[in-house]
Amino acid sequence: MRLHAAPLLLIAACFLHISASSPAEEMKHKERLFLRSMGLSGRPRPPRGPQARHRVPSRLWRMFRRSEDIQAGEKEPCAVEEFGVRGNIVRYVQDEGRLLPVWSSSCQTCLEKQLFFNMSVLQPAELLSLAQLEITFHRTPPSSAQLLQAPQALSVSLFEVFRITLKGADPDVNRRLLLSQTVQLKAEPTPTHMDVDLTPLAEKWRKPGQNYGLVLELRPLDVEAEDLLPFQPRTSFPLEGAFTLPLVRPTLVVVSLNPQQCGSRRRRHAVRSPVAPSNVCRTRRLYIDFRDVGWQDWIIAPQGYFANYCHGDCPFPLSESLNGTNHAILQTLVHSLDPHNTPQPCCVPIHFSPVSMLYYDNNDNVVLRHYQDMVVDECGCR
Ligand SMILES: *[C@@H]1O[C@H](CO)[C@@H](O)[C@H](O)[C@H]1NC(C)=O
Ligand SMILES: *[C@@H]1O[C@H](CO)[C@@H](O)[C@H](O)[C@H]1NC(C)=O
Repeated sequence: MRLHAAPLLLIAACFLHISASSPAEEMKHKERLFLRSMGLSGRPRPPRGPQARHRVPSRLWRMFRRSEDIQAGEKEPCAVEEFGVRGNIVRYVQDEGRLLPVWSSSCQTCLEKQLFFNMSVLQPAELLSLAQLEITFHRTPPSSAQLLQAPQALSVSLFEVFRITLKGADPDVNRRLLLSQTVQLKAEPTPTHMDVDLTPLAEKWRKPGQNYGLVLELRPLDVEAEDLLPFQPRTSFPLEGAFTLPLVRPTLVVVSLNPQQCGSRRRRHAVRSPVAPSNVCRTRRLYIDFRDVGWQDWIIAPQGYFANYCHGDCPFPLSESLNGTNHAILQTLVHSLDPHNTPQPCCVPIHFSPVSMLYYDNNDNVVLRHYQDMVVDECGCR
């Protein structure tokens, strides 16, 4: 069953009473409230078109598929098993740094790249659990135009920058070495990965005016300096071209926990409601298709999901299967005696299960997020 825009917003409307002027404005208002309940300040508008966007990292797809698989089973809520930390949001924050001009004479055969990860994509309420720098080195085969030697190994150094370096100043005064190691480059198609835990540093970057980024320094270990011709006018070469060397793709994998979206409820088995003609209280199937609400431009997956809802009577005598409270049992009794003054109890959701979503944020980062209480799997009379 495919439904139109109204049902999704109806869900929001069940909990909130809104009076707005025009129907279009009212829809917008409801959408905003619904997005806010999802921890989003507005509908994400990824800057680039679908073709130009970053691909969803395969690790994130794996995590998403796995979370779908265990949807029906029990799972530790608000934990990201892949990384063994607490959290309900996983972001792949893209590097916005640039290739650096040659300021330092200490390294003639190096290539230096600034790394910058915009941490303001995290909301203030979120608790940072993990920030892991993932660098992928692709050893690109030399093109016919650049018959250069591709190195077998690189010396990789990573610096934290804690002050802005002015042109002409010695950059080493403003940076501190975090790590230095040798990376063997494998032949394509196998890229080489390097992971660095940067959690404390990323926590610091969240404070305003504290993020000067990192500098990544790459030094080929088995290539003579004379062979690295494009290294001389370094500034004019994009990283990919300069190095017939590896294509470097740094990302910061950030796991955070939004405590407001982390209830203590456990996952339950999703109930596939049987088709019963009677009108007693039970879960009804409701499929929300994100295309119907125009969210396909930022939600990557799923394309929709069974949100379900509760509907039906809570008649006297209240049977056990209606999951009534003692109060509801008494209310049905009073209702049967005095139907005008005492209403029937309400048929409401009593158990929910979570849903995972993959989407693009405003900075074009890929985000995996777990939402509690997205699917109604049991109803009861309350
Ligand atoms: C970081 O992202 C925020 C919001 O997405 C933006 O307003 C800000 O200008 C960005 N900062 C930098 C340094 O790019
Ligand atoms: C009441 O709860 C049971 C499981 O505890 C469930 O099987 C049943 O469907 C629920 N009743 C309704 C009306 O959803």
